[in-house]
Amino acid sequence: MATTTIITPLQLLFCVCVCLTFCSASSSEATVPVGYGYTISAVNSYPTSISLTANLNLVKASSVFGPDLPYLSLAASFENKDRLRVRITDSNNQRWEIPQQVIPRGSPSHYYPLYFLNSERGFQHSLTLTHPHSDLVFTLHNTTPFGFTVSRKSSNDVLFNTAPDPSNPETFLVFKDQYLQLSSSLPPQRASLYGLGEHTKSSFKLQPNQTLTLWNADIGSDNLDVNLYGSHPFYLDVRSPTFDGRVKAGTSHGVLLLNSNGMDIVYGGDRITYKVIGGVFDLYFFAGSSPELVLEQYTELIGRPASMPYWSFGFHQCRWGYKNVSDLEGVVANYAKQGIPLEVMWTDIDYMDAFKDFTLDPINFPLDKMRSFVDTLHKNGQKYVLILDPGISVNDSYATYVRGLKADAYIKRDGVNYLGEVWPGPVYYPDFLNPRSQAFWGDEIKLFRDMLPFDGLWLDMNELSNFITSPPIENSTLDNPPYKINNREVLGSINYKTVPATSLHYANISEYNVHNLYGLLESKVTNKVLVDITGKRPFILSRSTYVSSGKYAAHWTGDNAATWNDLAYSIPSILNSGIFGIPMVGADICGFGRNTTEELCERWIQLGAFYPFARDHSELNSIRQELYIWDSVASSARKVLGLRYRLLPYFYTLMYEAHTKGTPIARPLFFSFPEDVTTYEINSQFLLGKGVLVSPVLQSEATNVDAYFPKGIWFDLFNVSSSVNAESGKYVTLDAPSDHINVHVGEGNILALQGEAMTTEAARKTAFQLVVVISSSINSYGQVYLDDGEAIDIAGVKDQWTLVRFFGTLNNNSVDVTSKVTNGRFALDQRWIINNVTFLGIPKHQRLNTMDLAGNGSNIVNGTVSMRKAVVMSQFDCSSKFVNVQVSNLSLLIGEEFKLEIEIK
Ligand SMILES: *[C@@H]1O[C@H](CO)[C@@H](O)[C@H](O)[C@H]1NC(C)=O
Ligand SMILES: *[C@@H]1O[C@H](CO)[C@@H](O)[C@H](O)[C@H]1NC(C)=O
Ligand SMILES: *[C@@H]1O[C@H](CO)[C@@H](O)[C@H](O)[C@H]1NC(C)=O
Ligand SMILES: *[C@@H]1O[C@H](CO)[C@@H](O)[C@H](O)[C@H]1NC(C)=O
Ligand SMILES: *[C@@H]1O[C@H](CO)[C@@H](O)[C@H](O)[C@H]1NC(C)=O
Ligand SMILES: *[C@@H]1O[C@H](CO)[C@@H](O)[C@H](O)[C@H]1NC(C)=O
Ligand SMILES: *[C@@H]1O[C@H](CO)[C@@H](O)[C@H](O)[C@H]1NC(C)=O
Ligand SMILES: *[C@@H]1O[C@H](CO)[C@@H](O)[C@H](O)[C@H]1NC(C)=O
Repeated sequence: MATTTIITPLQLLFCVCVCLTFCSASSSEATVPVGYGYTISAVNSYPTSISLTANLNLVKASSVFGPDLPYLSLAASFENKDRLRVRITDSNNQRWEIPQQVIPRGSPSHYYPLYFLNSERGFQHSLTLTHPHSDLVFTLHNTTPFGFTVSRKSSNDVLFNTAPDPSNPETFLVFKDQYLQLSSSLPPQRASLYGLGEHTKSSFKLQPNQTLTLWNADIGSDNLDVNLYGSHPFYLDVRSPTFDGRVKAGTSHGVLLLNSNGMDIVYGGDRITYKVIGGVFDLYFFAGSSPELVLEQYTELIGRPASMPYWSFGFHQCRWGYKNVSDLEGVVANYAKQGIPLEVMWTDIDYMDAFKDFTLDPINFPLDKMRSFVDTLHKNGQKYVLILDPGISVNDSYATYVRGLKADAYIKRDGVNYLGEVWPGPVYYPDFLNPRSQAFWGDEIKLFRDMLPFDGLWLDMNELSNFITSPPIENSTLDNPPYKINNREVLGSINYKTVPATSLHYANISEYNVHNLYGLLESKVTNKVLVDITGKRPFILSRSTYVSSGKYAAHWTGDNAATWNDLAYSIPSILNSGIFGIPMVGADICGFGRNTTEELCERWIQLGAFYPFARDHSELNSIRQELYIWDSVASSARKVLGLRYRLLPYFYTLMYEAHTKGTPIARPLFFSFPEDVTTYEINSQFLLGKGVLVSPVLQSEATNVDAYFPKGIWFDLFNVSSSVNAESGKYVTLDAPSDHINVHVGEGNILALQGEAMTTEAARKTAFQLVVVISSSINSYGQVYLDDGEAIDIAGVKDQWTLVRFFGTLNNNSVDVTSKVTNGRFALDQRWIINNVTFLGIPKHQRLNTMDLAGNGSNIVNGTVSMRKAVVMSQFDCSSKFVNVQVSNLSLLIGEEFKLEIEIK
């Protein structure tokens, strides 16, 4: 829920004015350089050290965007073998950097006195820094102006190259108080970049010739190519191979510019240029060399994604505009009546009294009725999540407001609380950097939850959103910085409809510096509060995010619209969120803004059922779009949510992997097939984990879909008798009638599924089924992580979780699957069983035609497990190149290791 950006004629006029000044500024830029770069005056590097420092002197002063800083310090250091940090800052004064309490990280290397001056050291051309176990090499080039490169030891591939092009001042290092510029060339055609968000894009791979602006703003995600709610100055660079074979396809690295200030990033295909309005250059290079390893290394620095409760993988329903408690009850009842699983019911701002946080509308959402509504949900194994906005209504008869005043909890400007305006009218905003405000916020949440036991919190409007734009403070270079980032396509200054940059947080930290951190800080504080109150794993959904938000919260893509384009763009958006370390993500199913249609909603639930976070949500005044409204949508919903619920153990295990290794839940195809360059361009499909490929219909009236299949044999998860055999990667046109989405599992994967149910709690009580997809080239693998679904520490106390790994092998005369169990006790206590095992893709050769599958279990090796029931086997799909076999009624305890072998006679 939020405001929509409507451009009034007045704003248009403003837009034109700003644009004119902007354009003239940029044309003068071409003649008057913004800077002339720096030279190296001294370096300090011990031969065996894994860090070096250098002093930099300004080549020549310039005046555009303010005076240059004359002296800079550069420090390059290997923080570990996979992480190189390069930090450049003012030699003489401390500058703004993200506080350690906000994003904990190593301290920068100390600047030792510089022993080796240029001439003494004989450092003429270049100086390299290496680490005995790292593939990365840092090289300082003693040119005028100076530059540095980061390259690979193994292939000499240059990953980042700031060597200036003398004919292009845009390539010079510039360092002023409010304008920092750094540029790297990229090998044209060989670098595919992903990330640098948050933006809605039609293409997942970044397209050249665009400016990516990072400045958090309440702009609907139905707006393409503009800055949105979050800022993530991180990209993943996937390299195409060199002709000489030096660089293998899919060799990947990551680059983070850890800086919270507003910035434009100009991406030109063969060059990337950062134009930042404050802070320092603090660059981190992650060696990879697979995309998966880059994410592991990136999240090791910024924090691994939060663990999510099991129930959060169920289906969620929300709407802005639910009228009253009976309306909510009706929705819940209709889902039940129609046999569509509903896990979580949400309320938007409607439940509040005059939009005041921590209050209930006494007429339509009175406390007694809300309590019994929530109690009933809980009795039925369902959950309730509600919205909170940061703005606290300024109203003397509002107790929360008064307590906030007493705690002195609000953001200030000009010595008084800054007055903004959001849904309740005039508001003050809590300052989440302030320990007093953190305590205030925590107390309010606790008081409210004591009243109404909600299960999760939804943090909206935290960019910060403001319905007014306050006038700038005269001559303030914070409210009106010399370089204008492209906020809202130059619709406004950085102060446009947010808290002004001159506002002050705790310890006099300016909004100018911490603007992009607000959503992160709110998520972090709220996460801690919920852990303290509930003693359970919190579920928090935040609209605004920054680097490391994934450690505390899930994310949705914000205010999209019910259009076919928005449906398609949701795929690049969720993939980007995964790359930003926020794997629990989804887009509003059926579209938030505008009226959806039956056809669009049906296609959207087919795709949305496979988002990591699956929520239907719509805007006030748009038509209702709950999944039961149309019979066709209801029927598709039962089908696709049926598969989603069977896949719940898989989703949950992917969450465990994300939490322990940083690997996204929804992944680009190149994560599993980095050697296949065709996958670098794919925008309309994605993988869940390693091997479940989702290929949705994204166009109106389409009844088939051109889907790309990387090399391998792929089985349709709705009908495993149907398969695609891609001897090498290829596009295949698949049938996709209106009630069908194509979801395939690839060879080499083992999935542990459970049964369909109306709630995740009920689904967890069903038997497991193993789907073992045999491969003739690799051993098959899969794993399942099991715990109570809500413990704070994932894989914490030994008795409270179980990890089972499955290995499948194709032998000369048999196929088998074995399990390895870590901490079986927990699973044994739950008495979880594997009831049947399906082998897919057993290669068929002459002798297989006589395969005897009428066995009575004599060819099952049961390890330590005892068989209680007879084993029934069936063989199917013998027409194609392989045979599929199903073994049923096994009753194998999942907590006990077993080996199941089927002879191929
Ligand atoms: C990007 O812009 C440059 C310079 O204007 C132009 O030469 C190049 O063709 C453009 N590339 C694309 C992909 O549009
Ligand atoms: C709830 O809202 C609906 C729609 O406005 C209305 O018809 C109904 O009477 C209301 N129910 C209660 C109990 O207020
Ligand atoms: C303050 O809150 C009270 C109670 O909700 C409400 O009746 C009153 O209209 C509010 N005053 C203003 C100025 O919003
Ligand atoms: C703002 O700058 C102008 C021009 O430099 C100056 O005349 C004016 O006094 C300044 N105003 C304030 C409030 O400092
Ligand atoms: C913040 O600024 C005010 C006014 O300049 C000053 O009195 C105060 O000491 C500053 N506080 C801190 C923590 O720097
Ligand atoms: C959506 O449909 C409703 C009911 O038909 C209509 O009143 C409203 O104007 C429509 N909204 C839009 C944005 O088309
Ligand atoms: C195999 O297990 C699944 C999930 O428990 C179940 O839906 C299916 O009917 C079983 N198949 C057979 C043949 O027992
Ligand atoms: C299965 O295991 C039990 C107990 O270890 C053993 O008695 C039985 O013979 C085994 N069955 C088969 C078919 O190997």
